[in-house]
Amino acid sequence: MGRVRSDVERLPEPRCVVVTGGAGFVGSHVTQRLLAEGVAVHVVDSLVTGKRWNVPGGALFHHLDVREPRLPALVAELSPDVVIHLAAAADPRRSANDPLADAQANVMGSLAVLEAVRTAPRRARVVFSSTVAIPADRGATPSSPYSIGKLVVEKYMAAYRSKYGIVTCILRFANVYGPRQGGYESAGVVAAFCGRLLAGEPLRIFGDGHQTRDFVHARDVADAIWRAAVRPLPADGLPLSLGSGTSITVLDLAGRLSRQAGVPLSLEFREPHGADVPHSVVDVTRAAAVLGWRARVRLEDGLGETLRWFASNRASVDALPSHTIEGRLAPAARSERGEGGL
Ligand SMILES: NC(=O)c1ccc[n+]([C@@H]2O[C@H](COP(=O)([O-])OP(=O)(O)OC[C@H]3O[C@@H](n4cnc5c(N)ncnc54)[C@H](O)[C@@H]3O)[C@@H](O)[C@H]2O)c1
Repeated sequence: MGRVRSDVERLPEPRCVVVTGGAGFVGSHVTQRLLAEGVAVHVVDSLVTGKRWNVPGGALFHHLDVREPRLPALVAELSPDVVIHLAAAADPRRSANDPLADAQANVMGSLAVLEAVRTAPRRARVVFSSTVAIPADRGATPSSPYSIGKLVVEKYMAAYRSKYGIVTCILRFANVYGPRQGGYESAGVVAAFCGRLLAGEPLRIFGDGHQTRDFVHARDVADAIWRAAVRPLPADGLPLSLGSGTSITVLDLAGRLSRQAGVPLSLEFREPHGADVPHSVVDVTRAAAVLGWRARVRLEDGLGETLRWFASNRASVDALPSHTIEGRLAPAARSERGEGGL
């Protein structure tokens, strides 16, 4: 791909960025990267799956569902340069079981964020986390409610871009993995395998394991998001896909992680999930051209790091959903410094 014509100039170094879903897995890496760049970061998160301790100490934390009526006033008051919108019900399998809840969280939640940006006195750039599970063929319908919701939000992004001049960047992620991913079964397959290996349980494979996935480390995704926040962007507003550009089978992944853990490979096969796509490998040409980006973390290194992180943090990532844990803590102020030691 040749040079991409840009219609949106590079932002001067942003001073203030809002990260919705910043207490989640990807959001914690993004927040960490933004703080390293010297940006003031405001995390907005309902903690429905996110963890309070994922928010690094340098960030300000706002305990808020993006659908709450207080969001527009908060965005207006903070007047951010960029809003990075990651808050979502991020589990495609749960979405398949409850499409209504998925649409409420992901479609209505994203629309609430766009409206907050539109009605603020100064309009922020919006970076949105979509998925490579949306078929590249624009006529095709995505196979799951989760992907349908993401596609609907992409359309809203395009509409707000053309109607209100809001600068948007849609990033479609492949399978993101790394430290701090939810360790429960329905989280990403790397996290699920790490949890099972450390518990001495067989690795559970849905289907025959020959399905392929493109794994990209969360630090690489955070790097792409930072670039999307500051760099010139093309006029067309079309999505950019983020992945490693190569894929491996789930069986291969199981073998690699078992070897890294130093335990014999033990597998348990289950019925495939309807929401899963059979094969996924990402064409990163456009993201490379627009963002000057490529994934840098080698899979072997990233898997080793992730396994080590799960080994040293098992106690804190055990299957409890965060709201269960939150319920045991003293009531938190609604807006306060992050408490994570990242
Ligand atoms: N992890 C992946 O492999 C992957 C792949 C493709 C796309 N994505 C997208 O990336 C984003 C981040 O995913 P993740 O893996 O970090 O998931 P995550 O569950 O760890 O993070 C999502 C965060 O959003 C918060 N949240 C959910 N609904 C909210 C609401 N209504 N208001 C405020 N906060 C809310 C949760 O508490 C959580 O902290 C999501 O939009 C997801 O759909 C992730």
